[in-house]
This record gives sequence, C-alpha cells and structure tokens, in this order.
Amino acid sequence: MDQKRVLLIVGGGIAAYKSLELTRLLRKAGVGVRPILTQAGSEFVTALSLSALAEDKVYAELFSLTDEAEMGHIELSRSADLVVVAPATADLMAKAANGLAGDLASTTLLATDKPVLMAPAMNVRMWQHAATQRNLAALKADGVSFVGPDEGAMACGEYGPGRMAEPAAIFQAIMGMLGGARPLAGKRALVTAGPTVEAIDPVRLLTNRSSGKQGYAIAGALAALGAEVTLVSGPTALSAPAGVRRVDVESARDMLSACEAALPADIAVCVAAVADWRPAAAGDRKIKKDGQAPGAIALTENPDILASLSKGKARPRLVIGFAAETNDVEVHAKAKLAKKGCDWIVANDVSVAGTMGGDDNAVALVTKGGIERWERMAKGEVARRLAQRIAQELK
Ligand code: CTP
Repeated sequence: MDQKRVLLIVGGGIAAYKSLELTRLLRKAGVGVRPILTQAGSEFVTALSLSALAEDKVYAELFSLTDEAEMGHIELSRSADLVVVAPATADLMAKAANGLAGDLASTTLLATDKPVLMAPAMNVRMWQHAATQRNLAALKADGVSFVGPDEGAMACGEYGPGRMAEPAAIFQAIMGMLGGARPLAGKRALVTAGPTVEAIDPVRLLTNRSSGKQGYAIAGALAALGAEVTLVSGPTALSAPAGVRRVDVESARDMLSACEAALPADIAVCVAAVADWRPAAAGDRKIKKDGQAPGAIALTENPDILASLSKGKARPRLVIGFAAETNDVEVHAKAKLAKKGCDWIVANDVSVAGTMGGDDNAVALVTKGGIERWERMAKGEVARRLAQRIAQELK
C-alpha cells in the first residue's frame, strides 16, 4: 500500500473527530493521506491535528494563492487513487449530487476522475429527509460508493441511522477500493454475527448484548482480501461492510437455515452470540397477567450452528468459532474445539470490562497445534489479523 494515496475531505460534523483516527489507521497501513478540511469541518477538528496525523499539508481554500501555486485544485483532485469524504455531511452530499463547485471540497469532487467513497454522518431526520435520500440515489447512480451510516444514539440526543461508520469499517472499505493484495479472491466465506432473538410471545423476547462489531469487522476484512462474503446477522445497529452480502435473521433456527442456504463456502466464521435456548412454546397470543406471576418459562435447546457447519456434509474447508468466556478462557476454548468439531477457536475474555459492545478485544487463537495469544487490540485489527491468517492457511 506504500504507493497508494487517499484524498480525505473532512466535512463539518461532530463525527469529524473519527476522521483523525481514520487518518492514523491509513498512515499505519502505509497509505498516503492528503486532507482537505472544509470551513465547517474546521469548527470540529483543527488543521494542525489533521496535518500532524496525515504528515501532509491540509488544503482548505479554493482561492488561496499559495495553495494554488503549490498544487492547483484540479491537480489536487487527481493526485490520489481514491477520494474519501468523511464525514459526508448532508450539505456535501447535496453539493456533490448537484454538481455545485463553490468551495475547494465540492470543486474537487466535481473535478476528480478517481473513485469516490462517502461516509455519511448527520442527524437521523436529515438522513431520512427525501432530499438527502434523493441525493444519495443520484450519487449512487453516478458511481459513488458508500460506507454506513450506522444506527445509534446521536450527539443531538436522537436515535436512528445517521452515525458515521466506525473508522475501522471506513478503513476496510478504503482498502477494498484501493485494491491491495487479494489473496482470498475466488473464495467464498460465511460469517455469522450479532445476537439472536427468540420469541417468548408475539411481543416479548429473549436476546443478549452482542453488538455484532467483531463479526462485521471480520466480514469486512475477508471482503477486503477479495473473498465473496455472506454475513448472516441477527439484529444490530451496524451497516453491512463494503462489498458484503448481508442476510438478516432473528432466531437461531433462521440463522441456521440462512447459513445452510449460503453453502457451499470455503470459510465459515461463527461470531454470532447464538441463544443456546429458546422458549419451548412461543404461542401467537400475548401472555396475560391474569393477576398472578406466570410460572417458569420452559426452554428448549437451539441448534448449534457452528457444530452443524463443522459436522455437515458441505463442511467448509476452514471452520472457525468464537468462545466468549469469563474464566479459564483457554481450557474452555480447547474443550469447545473438540466438542464443536471446528478447526480454530478464537477465544475472547469477556470478563474484561468494555469487551462486550466495546471497540477492543483481547483474544487467543486456539488451533489443534496450540495457542497463540494476541495482545489487546481494536476489533478491526483482530479482524484484519484473522483474515490474514485465514488467507495464509488457504494458500
Ligand atoms: N454457536 C453456534 N450456535 C449455538 C451456540 C453457539 O453457532 N447454538 C457458536 C458461536 O457463534 C461461537 C461458538 O459457537 O462461535 C461458541 O459459542 P459459546 O456461546 O461460547 O459456546 P456454547 O456452545 O454456547 O457454550 P457455553 O455457553 O457453555 O460456553
């Protein structure tokens, strides 16, 4: 990636701080970053921070004699392999969709002949507004790629889609578009992620706290290495990583059917937090109070998706499970490897506060050959390392 360059346009949104982390990830991977900071963007992050992390000058003005003398705006728009807009505000999207060119960022977007990736970030109502959705459709029709937005709590106190995708997800989309090594080209991968939801009655359910972040990051990392990825996901607030086909499911049984439908595959990575049990009799009527507490809810065991894939007729060549443990992590992981019949277990210690739903993970890779402990790192980094290991294994 050492020869690759990204022109990063940072728009004016609270998510602009995430673009500093994105810049750091890109530089760490050897990708050159040339930033353009809009006037509104400079209200949220400083040119100094951006320049220090990018190790390059920050461009801001269209009518700047010094900037134009150094590099004209047309040249700037073509000096990179990819143009990334993060955060892509409603305003920047509207300008780009309509070909406006009143400032450096919009002029660059109009003048470029390079692929463009946008990571939208805005208030949920702005995102859902017909005008923004029209602009989104127009930009997609013009060939612009998108990553996110995610759903979640917003800085403005509202909830819904509009949060900018996490830096690791944008990074992966960029790596996919920059077209680095694609050792998994021609391979099919199946990834399960998120929680499952098991109905107690038509209005109540049993579920768990899985965010899906680790599974989504793995699906994205495999796609970035060229694999054709199907992500079978329980309900999460995340958007599908770039280039990944997502199949939405709720219950464990639906998840198993969707996985079976996605076979044959060369690789299966089961990251979903599948409910081990479901209510035995989820009727179609709401359970009523009737003045007394209901008795215990009878449970029945769910299918084990990892074990089914490992032991099934169409077994993928490499089957990988995750083991979330709170104690004796490696002992349990080894036992799971044998019990489930998979090839590797990625054991993670969820007793560490912040792992469930957080951005970091401390894992150990348990194979039949032994145990490899990885230092604590971002979930995106765990995903990239695992994808590399998978590529090595299937070489
Ligand atoms: N898994 C699965 N289907 C299930 C249960 C688990 O595919 N019904 C997968 C998970 O996706 C994960 C692995 O099995 O890859 C281990 O999940 P975990 O919940 O840690 O293991 P369990 O078998 O449920 O064992 P226990 O709850 O006793 O730790």
